[in-house]
Amino acid sequence: MIVTIDGPAGAGKSSAAKALAKRLGFHFLDTGAMYRAVVHAALERGVDLDDAEALEQVAASLDIQLTDDAVLVDGQDVTRVIRTQDITTATRYAADHPGIRARLVELQRAAAEGQNFVTEGRDQGSIVFPHAECKIFLTASERVRAERRYHDLTARGEQLTFEEVLEKQQQRDQRDASRPVGALIKARDAVVLDTDGMSAEEVVDRLHEIVMQHQ
Ligand code: C5P
Repeated sequence: MIVTIDGPAGAGKSSAAKALAKRLGFHFLDTGAMYRAVVHAALERGVDLDDAEALEQVAASLDIQLTDDAVLVDGQDVTRVIRTQDITTATRYAADHPGIRARLVELQRAAAEGQNFVTEGRDQGSIVFPHAECKIFLTASERVRAERRYHDLTARGEQLTFEEVLEKQQQRDQRDASRPVGALIKARDAVVLDTDGMSAEEVVDRLHEIVMQHQ
């Protein structure tokens, strides 16, 4: 069974999807981590992010391993470093690149082949797994999403203001919506869950119920 969870930045997809997968005993795929990993590797190698061809070569050469808890690139654990605000902002170079998207979509489909999977991202229900048994569109208001992200980042020691987080999120929303390939759209058959006012536990409970209704 494939469960897809798509939605905008800061909707709490990663933690909710991960907890849901654990509860169901399914594997978990954080596809945003793959786009982040490509950009991180390119920066490490001194590749100019504006050089689309060089960036695609980096993506093609990487061995990206996503376990349920860690992201390994060529054996190096990048789980934490790919979550900084700088990488978050730069990830658009990989996410806007049709060639890189094609490669990562291929890896995502291969990873899920024959397995029970919860996968989260922007295009999982619409493009990558159009025949998924259960599709969820997880969202929350702009302000609530920015507040959650602000708390996450400051808890990790990043120095930035709420207004900066909100502004960057608005830019990401704009890019996610307007990307020519892989734009964020709700799949026609996705169930919408708005998490404003819900605790993390309530979100996972509700996701679990939705999955049960699709089994
Ligand atoms: O979900 P996360 O914030 O980690 O995603 C990082 C970036 O990768 C997002 O800004 C989004 O634009 C992009 N992304 C994407 N397609 C996906 C997952 C993430 O374009 N399936």
